[in-house]
Amino acid sequence: IWSAVPAGPPDPILGVTEAFKADKDPRKINLGVGAYRDENGKPYVLNAVKKAEEILVQQNPDKEYLPITGLPEFTQAAAKLAYGAESVPLNESRVAVTQSISGTGALRIGGAFLGRFYPHTKTIYLPVPSWGNHTPIFRDSGLEVKGYRYFDKKTVGLDFAGLKEDLKNMPEKSIVLLHACAHNPTGVDPTPEQWKEISDIVKEKSLFPFFDMAYQGFASGSTSRDAFAVRHFISEGHQIALSQSFAKNMGLYGERVGAFSIITADPEERARVDSQLKIVIRPMYSNPPLHGARIASTILRNDELYGLWESEVKHMANRIIQMRDRLYANLVDLKTPGEWSHITKQIGMFSFTGLTQPQTKALAEKAHIYMTADGRISMAGLNAKNIDYFSESVSKAVKG
Ligand code: LMR
Repeated sequence: IWSAVPAGPPDPILGVTEAFKADKDPRKINLGVGAYRDENGKPYVLNAVKKAEEILVQQNPDKEYLPITGLPEFTQAAAKLAYGAESVPLNESRVAVTQSISGTGALRIGGAFLGRFYPHTKTIYLPVPSWGNHTPIFRDSGLEVKGYRYFDKKTVGLDFAGLKEDLKNMPEKSIVLLHACAHNPTGVDPTPEQWKEISDIVKEKSLFPFFDMAYQGFASGSTSRDAFAVRHFISEGHQIALSQSFAKNMGLYGERVGAFSIITADPEERARVDSQLKIVIRPMYSNPPLHGARIASTILRNDELYGLWESEVKHMANRIIQMRDRLYANLVDLKTPGEWSHITKQIGMFSFTGLTQPQTKALAEKAHIYMTADGRISMAGLNAKNIDYFSESVSKAVKG
């Protein structure tokens, strides 16, 4: 029956983990997937998460189905984390929000909802480059995917002039995807001043802003500072859509905890949008999983755990910054050809190194170091034990 099914290529990000696992060399390093690792290169379960789980065990809750849009305590707390306690649309009950299967699920619900109900276009514009999964998610949601300029290879920074020009040239009311903070894969974010200009153009052109916020807390170490763009857009009256993930900032990767929300005009409109979100979700996966949402909601609604969580987010962000400093210093010490200051300028979990595809291939084959083919490395995979080996290997690969 399946003789005509062609073999597909490995996933550009998760496929890297498969290649890493198959490598038996003890020096191997996985810098592919964006998953935090501790000082010893081990996956890290946050203490806030462990404590929340202890509380949950004591509460001994049942395992009944959640409502289609998830655990209400969680979705309310997630929206508050993104929009802020003072948020006007939140306090006016104008935010339709649903739990989602992490960030991917949130984007997919959003894509499907916009595909079905956004009246003006079925085209979404993504930054170039964007997270590798964005294009397939929106394409499979029934949208047409186009790009706008974002990254400048020459400066290894933001192509702000190109970005503005492309936004201005989009058809009015186009859907535009924006990374709220810690842009993946480049680690290059607009400054607050630049965000204000972007917001003005979005307003002028009546564009529809869809924010993807997968790294709240990872850019600056502060969840509220990282929400600047989202909150600024809302204070400017934009009715945004928002995807949130708790994979990175709570380390809940495999628990698949996220939220999708959309700002509406009034509570009556919110109720209608809410009813349609349910109709989008029910045939996809019926209702979301319980455990991770309970963990996140316990942390977000308990002052002590919230404080502990914030300090742990800061710790993770700081460890990554230290690794950036070490890597930069090492590459300079090793007289590696090229300019490497972008390593310390970029923020969030990733560094877009500028390594070429042949160099990344050589690093995998000769040094057992794995990263995505575009030269993105997950900084969290580096630690005191492997950073020197990594730096030397990169230096060798660049020298050829
Ligand atoms: C990444 O970009 O590495 C993460 O967002 C994980 C993923 O699912 O791709």
